Amino acid sequence: MAIDTTTEATVDAGEPNEFGYRTFRLGEFEFSRNEYFAYVRWPTGSHVASADAFLKALQRDVAWDFFYGIVNFDGVIGTVNHYGTVDLFAGRYNDSYRKAELDHLENFDTPLIRETFKAMLDDWTNEGFDPFASPTETGSAFGPKNGDNKRAITRHRVTAKRMVGVRGDEQIRSDDSGFPMNRQFLDVSQDEPEVYAEPGFEDDVAAFNLFAYLSRSDVTWNPSVVAACKNSLACPTTEEYILPIIHGNDRVEWFVQLSDQIWWNVEDRDTGQARVKVVMKPGDVASMPADIRHQGYAPKRSMLFVWENADPKLPELLSSGRLPPVAVDF
Ligand code: PHB
Ligand code: FE
Repeated sequence: MAIDTTTEATVDAGEPNEFGYRTFRLGEFEFSRNEYFAYVRWPTGSHVASADAFLKALQRDVAWDFFYGIVNFDGVIGTVNHYGTVDLFAGRYNDSYRKAELDHLENFDTPLIRETFKAMLDDWTNEGFDPFASPTETGSAFGPKNGDNKRAITRHRVTAKRMVGVRGDEQIRSDDSGFPMNRQFLDVSQDEPEVYAEPGFEDDVAAFNLFAYLSRSDVTWNPSVVAACKNSLACPTTEEYILPIIHGNDRVEWFVQLSDQIWWNVEDRDTGQARVKVVMKPGDVASMPADIRHQGYAPKRSMLFVWENADPKLPELLSSGRLPPVAVDF
């Protein structure tokens, strides 16, 4: 079956299989699922992933529109964002696959892979499973196809143009707007700053309580833009359990641990070789180099401030060696 979407991209989806799930084709890649697993096949190999882990990774790749650099679903499958086109790869950043020459990579126009991934996420996500939620705040991804969860997978993505709370921009969260405080942040003060703008400056002066805002986040591992100054993006997020992707950077990223604790496994971006383990505690600041990949583990819901530089020139400056992969040399 071909699903026509609003863009020119035509998704290649098969009829539902015996478990009710469609099989999707993208170039020479084929994606299928059954009750427990997602399978990826390509001309030189195949791969299996647990359905819940696969859907959590797919959800982020879709919601972030392929993010910065590389989104590894795991050690084998992933995407590289070229900002207009996207590589889909198997084993490309895995030393063993590379040495055995079993890796495979295809480049797609962004609308085609975007629409295919969106359709797959929708078809494979059952009612009651929320790929953005923490494990204890959602149901099961498993079993035969059972309804859908469009509300969860098409959440509004927060991208403030100036700052949360500014007139006409993203607004603060409240019970009334459908964002109750999370069970693990019930002790977070909900006071909001009082702002007395001079007449004529009401649209330009604003403040909000970031901790209160984050205490009401209903998702995990989802950096969202709460303030922007040119290319400088403040992207805080709340984390619990494991970051469902392994992010390969194409620029330096800064982390400020606002509460609780996150353990980061940091590896070489291209080979996956272990480089360092970083345990971040409240107040800790880390500058993650541009040539690494990392995955975070949060034993309890925590608040992390991710600071991104969205300058589109950065990937080329780094890959050509004109910028070093680290922010500071000691
Ligand atoms: C990252 O890879 O930099 C990243 C991704 C998602 C998060 C936090 C950090 O929630
Ligand atoms: Fe990252």
